[in-house]
Amino acid sequence: MTIYNLGSINVDHFYSVPHLPQPGETLAACGYSTGLGGKGANQSVAAAKAGAQVIHIGAVGPDGGDVLDRLALLGVDTTHVEQVDTPTAHAIINIDPAGENAIVIFPGANEKQSLTRLELALKDAGKGDILLLQNETTLQVEAAQMARKKGLFTIYSAAPFAAEAVTPILPHIDLLVMNAVEAEQLTAALSVPLTDTPVPHLLITRGKAGATWRTQATGKDLHVPAFRVTPIDTTGAGDCYIGTVAAGLAENLCAEDAMRRAAAASAIQVTRKGTADAIPTRDEVDSFLSTHP
Ligand code: RIB
Ligand code: NA
Repeated sequence: MTIYNLGSINVDHFYSVPHLPQPGETLAACGYSTGLGGKGANQSVAAAKAGAQVIHIGAVGPDGGDVLDRLALLGVDTTHVEQVDTPTAHAIINIDPAGENAIVIFPGANEKQSLTRLELALKDAGKGDILLLQNETTLQVEAAQMARKKGLFTIYSAAPFAAEAVTPILPHIDLLVMNAVEAEQLTAALSVPLTDTPVPHLLITRGKAGATWRTQATGKDLHVPAFRVTPIDTTGAGDCYIGTVAAGLAENLCAEDAMRRAAAASAIQVTRKGTADAIPTRDEVDSFLSTHP
């Protein structure tokens, strides 16, 4: 089973700051690094490291060679990443000493992938395959509609949250993933309780409070706790979680087992600086699980 991910590819610029900047403030960073990121790319990397076959669909600019190489090196198929005439997206990520972050994104090439390429990329996709979507590209609704026709299971993460992007896609997806803040934003936008959200499955992630998978048809909630770790940088942990869950489902694990592996992967991810580069391998997750019953 293959995971197709229509997703963003960003160059992440990390600044360690004494505190998150205030309006009007000029602030010197005490550390800087750069790496591969983007919610899409992070999720692809997490799924690939978890052992899944992942085909990433997206776009980079003429300056995107390095991030694309990095994505491929981490095990992701980049055949369907287009090269377009707009600069590669980037993210400016400020991280304070408590590990709290504030992110500014320049979307660039992430908004330039073509419908033709999307169709081509999904040409051989079929039942049992998974489509992953987030909110940092265009064409999510089109992709979800194509996926439904072909019998794929579509997982959509409503991040970054924007009501006008999230609402129209709901009828076309199978699993909606949100963190607690996004879940609140969605209930406010729809004016219905979360339990009436018109999607077959909901997965709400709550950081150290764990995650809950709700099946709407039965009204059953499955809660899987988080592992206790001391985080130093939570950036990209949600993406790590989602990619790992997708990989688990792709190898036919039940929701609970997929969530347990995802909880372990993100527990490790938050103890490392960075986004995609902080995501652990399958072996690291296995050994973490063997020592954290
Ligand atoms: O979720 C973390 C990601 O958000 C970062 O990698 C950054 O690129 C932004 O898209
Ligand atoms: Na991290």
